Amino acid sequence: MATVALTLLPARLTLQVDAGATILASAHGGGVDIEATCGGRGRCTSCRIKFVSGLIPPPTIMDELQLGDALVREGYRLSCQCRVTDPITVQVSPPVDDRSFQILGAERPPGAPMPVAIDAGVDKTLVRVSLPTEEHHQTSDLEALLAAVGRSPEDCSPEVLKTLPQALRRHEGEATVASFGRRILSVEPGDTHLLAFGLAVDVGTTSVVTTLMELASGEQLASVSSLNPQAVFGGDLMSRIAFAQFDPGNLRKLQTRIVGLLNQHIEQVCRDSGVLSKWIYKVVIVGNTCMHHVLLGIDPSYVGLAPYAPVMRHPLTLAARELFLKVNPEARVCLLPIVAGFVGADAVAVALATRMDESTEIRVAVDIGTNGEVLLGSREHLWACSAPAGPALEGAQIRHGMRAALGAIDRVGLDGQGICGSGLIDAIAVLLDAGVIDWTGLIDLDHLDRLPPPLASRVIMRGEERAVILARPGESGATQELLLTQDDIRQVQLCKGAIASGAAMLQRIAGVPEDKVAELMLAGGFGNYLSIPSALRIGLIPALPESRVRYVGNAALMGAQLALLSEVERGRAETIARSIEHVSLAAHPDFQDVFVDCMNFPRS
Ligand code: FES
Repeated sequence: MATVALTLLPARLTLQVDAGATILASAHGGGVDIEATCGGRGRCTSCRIKFVSGLIPPPTIMDELQLGDALVREGYRLSCQCRVTDPITVQVSPPVDDRSFQILGAERPPGAPMPVAIDAGVDKTLVRVSLPTEEHHQTSDLEALLAAVGRSPEDCSPEVLKTLPQALRRHEGEATVASFGRRILSVEPGDTHLLAFGLAVDVGTTSVVTTLMELASGEQLASVSSLNPQAVFGGDLMSRIAFAQFDPGNLRKLQTRIVGLLNQHIEQVCRDSGVLSKWIYKVVIVGNTCMHHVLLGIDPSYVGLAPYAPVMRHPLTLAARELFLKVNPEARVCLLPIVAGFVGADAVAVALATRMDESTEIRVAVDIGTNGEVLLGSREHLWACSAPAGPALEGAQIRHGMRAALGAIDRVGLDGQGICGSGLIDAIAVLLDAGVIDWTGLIDLDHLDRLPPPLASRVIMRGEERAVILARPGESGATQELLLTQDDIRQVQLCKGAIASGAAMLQRIAGVPEDKVAELMLAGGFGNYLSIPSALRIGLIPALPESRVRYVGNAALMGAQLALLSEVERGRAETIARSIEHVSLAAHPDFQDVFVDCMNFPRS
């Protein structure tokens, strides 16, 4: 197994530890005591560390919940949740102002960040129901149950009624009632009150991620991600919408695909964790507007036609059985609200997770995906726009492209069989620095004499097209020649032009120059593979000092997790959605010029 260097301060001890192990386990293995009051379950803050050097990984949901956004931004993490993948130096148990911790359920001291108290809204109560008897027979199972839980008949659906006779009699009236608000979700024989779980789901255009969480503790028990199987009907949103447009049969095909995948995910996370799917009572789903509509079986035709109006924008809660999801049939499926046709619930979730709406300083969040989104603002005002990067950055349209998966070239470690988006960006950054590609994106064949001969020999014409040989067969483990073509570079320019112009336009509209941007957050599964220096070099993101750019992981999923674990947070999503000002780039007179500008690379 590969090892990496972990340096612990203040002991100044460097350990060679297994890559992928947690910092806590590695430190304990090396004889360094880090306090772990909750036993490494992410439920306290005693094991906190602070990054001194090395790549800071995106925070986990437990980092956000326990430490809060302010400390997370300063590089604090829970060592029991944080894995060592690169050489790092961390400070053990750094002193903090205790008031700045987000103490779950506690009073908020003045000036401390907003606490996130876990309250998923799902309640499970053990009851003793007095079943009808010979003497007291003019009653019913339902009435007996309602008397025990203090509810009325309309709080109980016919589905739950069907299960009542057995549920109440199996343990002679001892049963557990699961409810959400006043709604009775299920009545289970015996005592199951400790078993309450939920799912947070991010349905992206290209990939879908599902996490299973325990609702009482917020602990993540399992996670699964896969490619969105709708992609066979179109890689980007517009082609997906065109497929479904005015064709109910095709819309149904898309809907069936995503529901089928979610059910596979449910099966897998349940298998991995040993949780029964009937104990899943709440599901929070985020996704862009098209994914949201298609999941609900709503025709997205007009989302794809100017003025790109969604059919609905409000948050929606429905029963799992209405969507054919194989969790508890009465589980509440909550879809977060939408801002506009191309700024969906995923963007709302990003704002929720990054707490941009509470920030005193101006921050930018760039969610890089097939349908990218850019958010800019502070607690004063939030703007958002869509930046349809298309699937090229995720590798789909590049000649030797592949999605960030095993075998893809990551960070130009030329040892795989294809180039994934992040490797591609590194490759272009390196070739720009070397002068192989000029600022317009052209592979420069006219000045090969200025290049070192080994590099010059890689710059070629292949048929009619300019290309750079990234790897020859046998080099760095490549089994076939790996080319970066002129067309590949043009594809990347289109994508990065979309994202960069989104950010530039929001800055222009908000009147915010770069020096006023306190922080740029890179979100999305893909964002985390990206090398920040390379992203800056090719101008994918605004020209900020590297220290002001950080990864925030899959913030859309984290937003879904927050809304899953906290009804207050779910409510906050609605406020955020209402407060975001959507900027329609296509309609703006400056957009074309800004976009063309942003397609070029910054001159070094
Ligand atoms: S040991 Fe409690 S959070 Fe890590």
